Amino acid sequence: MSRESLKRMKNIIKKISEFYSDLAAQVKKHDMAFKLILAFFLFLTVFYLSTNRFRKEQFDLKVGDIAPYDIKIKRNIEYVDYIKTEEKRKDLISKISPVFSFDLGILEEEKKKVDAFFDKVLEIDNEFDPFERKIEQAKSIKLMKDANLLKILFLNFKENNFRNKAKEVLTKIYNAGVTDLDPESITSLGQTGNIIKIYNNEQGEEISIRARLDDLYYLKTINYFEVVKSIYSSLRWDKVQFLNVYVKRHVRPNLLYDKKLTDEKIVNAIGLVKPVGMKLKKGQVIVRYGEEISESDFKILKEVVKYSSETSVIRGYFVVLLALFILSLLIFKIYSPAIFNNLKTFLFLLSFIFIAVLLTYLFPNFNSFLKVKILSSFYIPIGGFAILIHQLTNYATSFWVLLFISILSMFLVGFNFVDFIIILLIGFSAVILSGKLKKRIYMWYLGLLIGLFYSVLNLGMTGIMNFSEEQFLNSLLMGFVNGIISIIISMGLYPLFEYFFNMLTEYKLMELSDLNLPIMKRLLIEGPGTYNHSILVANMAETATLAIGANSLLARVGGYYHDIGKLENPEYFIENQFGDDNKHQKIKPSISSSIVKSHVKYGEELAGKLKVPIEIINIIKEHHGTTMISFFYRKALEDVKSGKSEKQDMHTYKYEGPMPTSKEAAIIMLADSVEAASRALKNPSYTRLQNMVRELINERFLDGQLDDCSLTLMDLKKIEESFSHVLSAMFHTRIEYPDQNQIKKLENEN
Ligand SMILES: [Fe+2]
Ligand SMILES: [Fe+2]
Repeated sequence: MSRESLKRMKNIIKKISEFYSDLAAQVKKHDMAFKLILAFFLFLTVFYLSTNRFRKEQFDLKVGDIAPYDIKIKRNIEYVDYIKTEEKRKDLISKISPVFSFDLGILEEEKKKVDAFFDKVLEIDNEFDPFERKIEQAKSIKLMKDANLLKILFLNFKENNFRNKAKEVLTKIYNAGVTDLDPESITSLGQTGNIIKIYNNEQGEEISIRARLDDLYYLKTINYFEVVKSIYSSLRWDKVQFLNVYVKRHVRPNLLYDKKLTDEKIVNAIGLVKPVGMKLKKGQVIVRYGEEISESDFKILKEVVKYSSETSVIRGYFVVLLALFILSLLIFKIYSPAIFNNLKTFLFLLSFIFIAVLLTYLFPNFNSFLKVKILSSFYIPIGGFAILIHQLTNYATSFWVLLFISILSMFLVGFNFVDFIIILLIGFSAVILSGKLKKRIYMWYLGLLIGLFYSVLNLGMTGIMNFSEEQFLNSLLMGFVNGIISIIISMGLYPLFEYFFNMLTEYKLMELSDLNLPIMKRLLIEGPGTYNHSILVANMAETATLAIGANSLLARVGGYYHDIGKLENPEYFIENQFGDDNKHQKIKPSISSSIVKSHVKYGEELAGKLKVPIEIINIIKEHHGTTMISFFYRKALEDVKSGKSEKQDMHTYKYEGPMPTSKEAAIIMLADSVEAASRALKNPSYTRLQNMVRELINERFLDGQLDDCSLTLMDLKKIEESFSHVLSAMFHTRIEYPDQNQIKKLENEN
């Protein structure tokens, strides 16, 4: 990167941070409202994304897609299965036989024609002779063309009653029914193998008869020979031949397909079909994670969509989610007030939650992009988030935020508890383990450990969720990638967060503890006494915080910075006065007091300009609490007594506070007064030092200065001990420790 672009980058960062601080100044006035608006915005986003998933999840998925998670029914659903209903209808329709109108009149008509024919034959047979003339005559009146057949007719006419036989055959054919359709086309009208014949009987009543397709005669394929033979089995061949041909002339369809009646029957039948209802129970899995979505699954999914987008579901979901948000805000406000009240930390936590939600929402896209099937929890660098959240806040806040993120993620992936558990376990372990890290380099081990956790969980899931080998290997790889990314994120974002949010971090404190910083050098030159005092206070405070398990680095830096306000008028403070030049001799005690008091206010301003973290600024503000500047107050009272001045207001001689709110600030307060008092001691013994420390701590305690700082009596005891040790080490003269044997001896003597 060239110097130019580096400069440009710096400018951009500077501009962003300027914009941010402007914005921060603006919103500071309406702090609470702004926070609530942000939280509500986050709530709306989560609500929109998760209900969008509700509505969209099924449309995002197509037949043949792999389910990205267990798709479950979210509430009891009853719906009409149109496909099944249609199948049922079709089934019923196929059981309906086509209706044919059965014309009985045709047989009678044809019988008359047969009579007419044979009347003529009888006439010719009687009138003409010989045999040849009969045939000629028959031909001339076009009775029949075929001479051969006429021959058979006239040769056998008398002894054989062809007339009756023909009628008999026709009756058999017509009674069974003749159709000009073929069996295939009838089957296509209804696959029952039957038809319904409908006719009116002599009384005019409608009669319907079921008939088998096999029993019908099909005009084109009637085997007359067989019909005749079936009635007259012993008839001579030539006579059968005649009847065959003759009867065929009188056969025409007497069965006509009645479409109207058939359709009516179908409509009636359909009306009787009840819709097929389907019931889906809440929690029932439609498609399992990793399984292919079949056509029937997809149909159910589409049904589910109809119900999921129902307003009642959405409304219920809105209420649940809103309740969760409000609960979180309340818990946050009650259990982590410092973080809740600080707009920066609040913003920072919201942004983490937002990113996690976004990643969870987008994970199916990642899956399709990478062509893998991995759970959403493997895509969220939750370990990195957890480490950052923990290092920038505290245990309680970290755990709650992680729980919150896992609940929201669960909402987003359709209530998949596996994701919920993974996020929670990985997040919690990252928080606990990162709290134990002493060196930055160990972070990489933590990254590998997170990867290892993922693989163990992955192994467990293979059992629970029936992972395929491919899914298992992909998830294993992703788990380790996640661990490494988590560490990169936490290490990379850390300085950025420090910078933008001006947060207190160990690294920031390390930076501030450098005595070569300009502010410290200035203090050394302009107020060498204060510089020296600050170093001593820092040492004492560090030792004491170590003894009670508070933040020792914060206490040390707090010690360095607590009196930087004295840079305004360093010569007005006793530690910087060398020789007899006491500036306060020439001014009124009330003025002296306000000059001394102003070092707190100025210190706060200076620290603000130096962009020192709020925790340090608080130490500066609180390190005198609301204590009395007794030196000047006494002087003022003496002046009143001697008549030099009027009655004095006690509050003029009191620091404005507030009283220490943190353990570290309280320890700085105690160390400050102990260090100042110790300067007056000459050749102190250990016991004298210890007594002095105890007295000063008691004084502050009884004055109520330690009421807001959560130090316990046990802590105070430990602080007292460590102050005494540090002080005794600071005094170069060897201090005689009381001899225990001597004490015993004295005790025994008494
Ligand atoms: Fe001070
Ligand atoms: Fe001080």
